[in-house]
Amino acid sequence: MDKLVIEGGVPLSGTIRIHGAKNAALPILAASILADGAVTIRNVPRLLDIQVMLDILQDLGCRTAFRGGTVTVDGSGASSSHVPESLMRRMRSSVFLMGPLLARFGEVQVYQPGGCAIGERKIDLHLRGLEALGANIEATGNRIVCRSGRLRGAEIILDFPSVGATENIMMAAVLAEGRTTIVGAAREPEIQDLQRFLNEMGAIVRGAGTDTIVIEGVSSLSGCDFEVIPDRIVTGTVMVAAAATKGEVTLTGAQPGHLTSLIHVLRRAGVQIQVENDIMKVRATDRPRAVPRVVTSPYPAFPTDLQAQMMILLALADGVSVIKETIFEGRFKHAEELCRMGADIRLDLNTAFIRGVPRLYGTTVEATDLRAGAALVIAGLAAEGRTVIEQVHHIDRGYDRIEDMFSRLGGRIARHQETDKANIAALR
Ligand code: EPZ
Repeated sequence: MDKLVIEGGVPLSGTIRIHGAKNAALPILAASILADGAVTIRNVPRLLDIQVMLDILQDLGCRTAFRGGTVTVDGSGASSSHVPESLMRRMRSSVFLMGPLLARFGEVQVYQPGGCAIGERKIDLHLRGLEALGANIEATGNRIVCRSGRLRGAEIILDFPSVGATENIMMAAVLAEGRTTIVGAAREPEIQDLQRFLNEMGAIVRGAGTDTIVIEGVSSLSGCDFEVIPDRIVTGTVMVAAAATKGEVTLTGAQPGHLTSLIHVLRRAGVQIQVENDIMKVRATDRPRAVPRVVTSPYPAFPTDLQAQMMILLALADGVSVIKETIFEGRFKHAEELCRMGADIRLDLNTAFIRGVPRLYGTTVEATDLRAGAALVIAGLAAEGRTVIEQVHHIDRGYDRIEDMFSRLGGRIARHQETDKANIAALR
């Protein structure tokens, strides 16, 4: 299994362009199966999760190609609506295929995607939404079969603004008969991108970005050429890394408007941030200040996907900070690894009490999930000495070769494939 080896203590500096958003590209790839013709999707990041989605689309009978950040999907040949359990296990976001497959074939068979390191990850809101559109759902063991004639528009009230459930219902409703209204919808930028993509194919969707989305069903959708938004979580990860290493980094191709809550917290911690169109300059020269309270909540509040990264900065801050995680019940696994690097963090259910320390010390740590792994990379870059991060495949699900990204900014970081000793020697 790959490892990352980091020699910490080097302030990051330079300019970096942010790649496309994983969490926009995944539902958009799933939705491509709704088109009568081929779709072209640009600015798609080269990530493990993207490859799994393409494997699933191929398994369903779609023709796909992925070259230079551009994916083409021709779903016209798709003939199956059964997602194999082996592929479901590799990525829980395969649950996004339920809506499109049901809309296209009137039937879909998937498997409970199961929980992961950050929590139970239920899909009851997805299933209730599809039922409201007329689907009949049978669950036997962990297999789920949904069947329907042509779906019928309905008013659906979400009692939690679930990102995935909002997206699945949107993708099912675009070919339904009549109007669907999603009340209590999630408002993330990735949902606005999905609306833009569906409308490019000829759908009639309005309201994404607010808590009420209205979809007028149409009879068919055509192919289109589309570019995915930049990844706001990768952007935020680089911003926090620049601050934690007391560096000065310019990010281009970003969308600052997607990160207002992070920018607000970073400025409260004393980080200097200049914003000009799609360019952001992040600079930190002093030890960060503690931030009394950071609470993760649905967009546009502070994103749960940046909670682990922010914990690194606050672990180095001057004073006591508190982070409350309200989205996932198991998203503090990085705290234990951080304490092994010298951090002073106490957990009480979904709240972390962080007493800042002057420095962290490198050691061997384990990535338990995607964003915890990315946070440990930041910790290694900021720490004194060498950090070795194991289980790096978690990080590869959401970052396109994270070591290249930070090496380009002056970080001393290399990937160690069991047989490759050269990278390590180069770091000495
Ligand atoms: C999306 O996951 C993202 N993934 C997650 O990013 C992100 O953390 C999450 O939204 C919240 O912003 C993708 O977009 C591929 P939810 P999703 O449905 O759709 C509960 C990353 O690191 N819930 O908004 O699964 C659920 O248990 C990933 O890139 C139900 O109870 O998130 C959780 O506690 C991690 N029933 C909460 O809602 C349901 O039917 C948020 O889930 C659905 C969700």
